[in-house]
Amino acid sequence: MTKWIVGNWKMYGEPQMARSLAQAVVQAAARAPQQVQVVLCPPALLVCQLVQAVQGSPVGVGGQDCHTQPEGAFTGNISAPMLKEAGAGYVIVGHSERRALHGESSEQVRQKAAQAISAGLVPIICVGETLAERDSGKALEVVAQQVLASLPENAKAGNFVLAYEPVWAIGSGKTPSTQDIVQMHAHIIGVVAAQQEKGSAPVAVLYGGSVKPENAADILSQGEVSGVLVGGASLRAEQFCSIIEAA
Ligand code: PGA
Repeated sequence: MTKWIVGNWKMYGEPQMARSLAQAVVQAAARAPQQVQVVLCPPALLVCQLVQAVQGSPVGVGGQDCHTQPEGAFTGNISAPMLKEAGAGYVIVGHSERRALHGESSEQVRQKAAQAISAGLVPIICVGETLAERDSGKALEVVAQQVLASLPENAKAGNFVLAYEPVWAIGSGKTPSTQDIVQMHAHIIGVVAAQQEKGSAPVAVLYGGSVKPENAADILSQGEVSGVLVGGASLRAEQFCSIIEAA
C-alpha cells in the first residue's frame, strides 16, 4: 500500500529556501521504498520552480487550493487546469484554513475537487472536526457529513485522496490518540466504500495535524492510515526528511 508524505507549506517559503528544501527532499525520497509517494505543496508562485527542482525524481508537486471554475473573471484565483499546466499533479482542497478563514463550504470543496479531477490532478480533500464537535461526541458524524458533501461525482477509486485533519490538532502540537485516528480513518473508509462501486480499492486517507518526526512512525504504521499531511514540520528539511524515513 502506498504511503503518502505530503508537505503543505501554507504561506511560507521563498525561492532559495524552496531550492534547498526540494533538494533535500529529493534525496530523502530517493532512499525511500517505491511505495512512498512524496508530494510538496508550496505557495502557487513556487509551483513552477519546484516542478523543475524535482524533475526526474518521484517527488510530486501540488497546489494548496484551486477555484471551482476552470477559468473566468475571478481576480486573485488560480484554477486546476493552470496548476496542471504548471506541472503540478495534486491539489489540496478544503483545508480547514480555507474552510474557516475563507468560509468555504463542502459544496465549494466538492466543486473544486471535481475541477481538479477533470484537469487530471489528484485532489487531496481535507475534512476534520473542531474541538467542540469532538468534545460533544459528534466527530464521526460531522466528518462523515463533510466527506459525503465534499466528494464529487467524478471521484472514483484511485483518482482522489482524503485527509483527516482534526481542526484542533493543526499547528497546536496536539494529536488525537492513535486509537482515535484509527477509528476515524476506518469510519471514513467505510463511508466512502458505501458510495463507490462494489469491489473498489479502499480510499487512501491521510492523517494531518501536528505530525512530527516523533509521532510519524506510530501514525504511519497503522494500516488504516495511508500517509500524512504535514504543515509546520514540512518547512524544515531535517524534520520532513525524517518523516519520509519513518514511512
Ligand atoms: P501542522 O499542519 O502539521 O502544522 O499541524 C497540518 C496542516 O495544516 O495540513
